[in-house]
Parts: sequence; structure tokens; C-alpha cells
Amino acid sequence: MTDVTALTIAILGGTGGQGQGLAYRFANAGVSVIIGSRDAERAHTAADELSGRITGGRVTGASNAGAASAADVIVVAVPWEAHEKTLTGLVTELKGKIVVDCVNPMGFDERGPYPLLTDDGSAAEEAARLLPDSTVVAAFHHVSAVLLSDPTVSDLDLDVLVLGEERSATDTVQALAELLPGVRGIFGGRLRNAGQVEALTANLIAVNRRYKTHAGIRITGL
Ligand SMILES: NC(=O)c1ccc[n+]([C@@H]2O[C@H](COP(=O)([O-])OP(=O)(O)OC[C@H]3O[C@@H](n4cnc5c(N)ncnc54)[C@H](OP(=O)(O)O)[C@@H]3O)[C@@H](O)[C@H]2O)c1
Repeated sequence: MTDVTALTIAILGGTGGQGQGLAYRFANAGVSVIIGSRDAERAHTAADELSGRITGGRVTGASNAGAASAADVIVVAVPWEAHEKTLTGLVTELKGKIVVDCVNPMGFDERGPYPLLTDDGSAAEEAARLLPDSTVVAAFHHVSAVLLSDPTVSDLDLDVLVLGEERSATDTVQALAELLPGVRGIFGGRLRNAGQVEALTANLIAVNRRYKTHAGIRITGL
């Protein structure tokens, strides 16, 4: 498996639940993490708070643009509503880098969660269209922010499906997934298959609501 511990990982929208959770786990695995935000001050505050809780690695804060410029791999962890605008504004900073999209286009109404139809077929494919000079990989859609941030959870007990067009990039992101305790990173196909992976999150949220849990998925046969 690729050695990813020397990489610097930036998280766009890293002040949110998912970004904080991933930053906590990556840093604890010894990786250098930059929390990105629209507001650099907010990123610094979040990074300082996280630094007090981690046992390894290093967490710093920056604007989303600063974080993207300084990192090797950039995770997109903003709400779907902010996806297009965020990426459009960072085309230059993200050029030549691996961009990991974990965004789930999702709606909620009185009948519960449901996947949103997107023009490109998925958030990840939108990212690939907006960032032609980046290598977009889709991953981390089904990892619960609550479990990621909970220091008492030592085994996340799930698989992360990793989708993309370039083998070296999906290998890298599979290795990043495997830094999370109890996680296997599993290649899940090319980006044209990202839509159903993003959409499956609606099923998992429905499971969570019925069974009061934080459900993940496991692939059998491997
Ligand atoms: N929460 C989960 O368990 C989970 C699991 C898997 C995947 N995801 C995906 O991860 C993404 C982030 O989820 P989250 O729960 O962390 O979301 P969130 O807390 O609502 O937002 C994350 C961050 O995005 C930034 N943001 C919010 N609105 C924005 C806007 N209009 N424009 C630009 N930036 C904006 C904010 O950072 P600043 O204000 O600091 O810029 C915010 O802290 C979502 O797309 C979600 O589908 C979440």
C-alpha cells in the first residue's frame, strides 16, 4: 500500500463536522493537516482546538485557497450547495493535485432523506468537469462525522469506497482511508459510478434514524 504519511492534506470546509472528523483521524495517524475555511481566522481557531486533542501529526489553519495551495491532497468537505462555487474559485490552487470529493448531494423533507439529481450525475463528476487539471477521486461518503470525532471510537468498522479514473490516485486515497482505524479503502469504480455511492448515503441516514446508529457499509468477498 502507498505510504501517505508524508503527504500534507488540506480540507476545504474543514471547520465543519466532516472536515473536523477527518482532520482528527488523519492527524492522529501522523499526517500533516491544514484546515481550510472561507475565513482564515475561523480555520486557525478550529486548528488550535483540534491540536489540543490530537496525539500525533500537526494541524494548522488557513483560508481555503491557502490550504489548497500548500497541500498535496485536498479533501472537499463543504455542503453540496457550496460545491460548485468553492471549486470554481480554486481552479488554480487545485491544479495538478489530487482532489478528494466526499460531498453527498442530499435533500430532506417530511419523508426523510433523498438524493438530489445533479446535472453531471454526481458531485464528483461536477468536480472533475470544473477541475480539468486536477485528479478528482470520490471517497469518504459514508463515514460518520460523529464517529470520526469521537475519541472513544477506536474501530470505525467500515469500508470506504474510492472511485476515480487514475490508478495511482485511487491507490493514494485508499491508503489515506486505511489510516482511519478499522477502515478498508476499496476501489469502487470510475467516477461515472460515483452517483449511486453518493446517493446511498440517503439510505444510510434512513437506517441511522430508524435504528439510532451511525451505519456504514462493508463489502464482502474480499
Ligand atoms: N457530516 C457527515 O457525517 C458527512 C459524512 C460524509 C460526507 N459528508 C459530506 O461532507 C460535506 C460536509 O459536511 P458537514 O456536515 O461537515 O457540513 P457543514 O458542517 O454544514 O459544512 C462544512 C463547512 O463548509 C463551509 N461552508 C458552509 N456553507 C458554505 C457555503 N455556502 N460556501 C462555502 N463554504 C461553506 C463551512 O466552513 P467555513 O464557514 O469555515 O468556510 C462549514 O464549516 C457535505 O457535502 C456532506 O455531504 C458529511
